[in-house]
Amino acid sequence: MYPLNDVSGQHLDFLSSLFVFSIGLVVLVIIILFIADVTQSKDAIRRNYPVIGRFRYVFSTLGEFFRQYFFAMDREEMPFNRAEREWVNKSSRGIDNTMAFGSTKNINPAGTPLFINCPFPTLDEHATISPKIKIGPYCREPYDASSVINISGMSYGALSKPAVRALSKGAKLAGCWMNTGEGGLSEHHLEGGCDIVMQIGTAKYGVRTQDGKLDDDKLRDIANLPQLKMFEIKMSQGAKPGKGGILPGAKVTAEIAKIRGIEAGKDSISPNRHPEVSNIKELLSFIQHIREVTGKPTGFKVVLGAYGWLENLCEETQQRGIECAPDFITIDSCDGGTGAAPMPLMDDVGLPIKESLPMVVDVLTKYGLRERIRIIASGKLITPSGVAWALCSGADFITSARGFMFSLGCIQALKCNKNTCPTGITTHDKRLQKGLNIEEKSVRVKNFAHKIHHGISLIAHSCGVKHPRELSRMHCRIVQSNGKSISLDNLYPKPEVLDKYK
Ligand SMILES: Cc1cc2nc3c(=O)[nH]c(=O)nc-3n(C[C@H](O)[C@H](O)[C@H](O)COP(=O)(O)O)c2cc1C
Repeated sequence: MYPLNDVSGQHLDFLSSLFVFSIGLVVLVIIILFIADVTQSKDAIRRNYPVIGRFRYVFSTLGEFFRQYFFAMDREEMPFNRAEREWVNKSSRGIDNTMAFGSTKNINPAGTPLFINCPFPTLDEHATISPKIKIGPYCREPYDASSVINISGMSYGALSKPAVRALSKGAKLAGCWMNTGEGGLSEHHLEGGCDIVMQIGTAKYGVRTQDGKLDDDKLRDIANLPQLKMFEIKMSQGAKPGKGGILPGAKVTAEIAKIRGIEAGKDSISPNRHPEVSNIKELLSFIQHIREVTGKPTGFKVVLGAYGWLENLCEETQQRGIECAPDFITIDSCDGGTGAAPMPLMDDVGLPIKESLPMVVDVLTKYGLRERIRIIASGKLITPSGVAWALCSGADFITSARGFMFSLGCIQALKCNKNTCPTGITTHDKRLQKGLNIEEKSVRVKNFAHKIHHGISLIAHSCGVKHPRELSRMHCRIVQSNGKSISLDNLYPKPEVLDKYK
């Protein structure tokens, strides 16, 4: 004990008591955890290694962050590596994204595309911008779309309100379209004034009757909006072919429930197929019906697995008359993104866009429908090289979901299914949404789209063509497993149009 007038001695006394108390508290907590661990029967590690076993879970969780920040190499993370994310990040912020010293990209792995530069590149003054492409020439209101890159379907629900608003404004600034995803159309999609493609998912959110059938009146009302340019029937999505949309109950707010026409707070699970579409004839009739009701181009989104059906679809289309064709087909890659999906479907089902895109282009060419049906490609096409490859392979348009998420500030935390997205993009937690500044992020969305156009133009001019839409298979070679590259037009020679469709 120290005398009352000895202040520093009293401090020391207090600190030593605090120290003893803290040690005691720690020991007490350890004892409680020890008892809790040895008496529980659900977790073998904690039962066999009480208290210490808990560190395994702490380190596994922290490992995610350590790997991303400290240990993962620039080109090794999945689904997107740091180099790709940084390219989008810098492009979106409008800061210098040139690189120094030399490429860190390994160009040896089989499948790597290499573009074939021309000895006489296109002079800047001879370069032109990519022309518009007409979609749905037989509709009452065809759509002349100009932007090569557009925003892929992501529902309001999977995305937060500020994310949808920033994308809508950004799409307007960029001059591209925004796809609503399967969660229906909200005022937030319309807010920026951009062109909208409405997706009709298997649950028909936003255009459904109470028992989940297509409601023509609602469809007509939506189609009357001038911003509404096209309708996309969702057959399947790369990350979960054969499974409907999944929105966990925590993300089904009252507003989202109202837009979708469902109950708030409960998991929103769509059927795994449009109940009324079980074969090609029904698919073509469904497309025709929506096109007639809306007067606007109508197509479908699919991830290719089996493909014989596509040839049957072309044959049936030719029999009905080419005006009955889908106005576009969106081909999604099996490694596409999602708000939430089961791992077996996400990892193991469907074909990658690298394989499916040239196949689809060739089937349409063979059946004389290549010009009639526009092709939209998606799946990790977030840098100029990916987009230019898709154009060479025959795509008319590219859409990206995660590329635009990165432009909004996504850090690939892989939490889209949790309502805890740290950047506010896929959460309805107001606190987390505060980080997403709509005006600033909308400019980033525009910058990203512009940098993609700039990058593909650089590749196009280097290949000696005037604009990116002139890129063709002869401009791209693909590295093979023996280290040599083969021209895309040798890998996928252009098929002859069948005699009866010439
Ligand atoms: C958060 C999130 C939500 C999505 N929601 C939908 C959807 O509602 N409908 C759909 O067809 N695809 C949806 N997708 C898939 C994307 O539209 C796209 O097809 C896929 O992610 C591939 O493009 P990417 O690699 O550029 O992301 C979603 C993807 C993400 C990341």
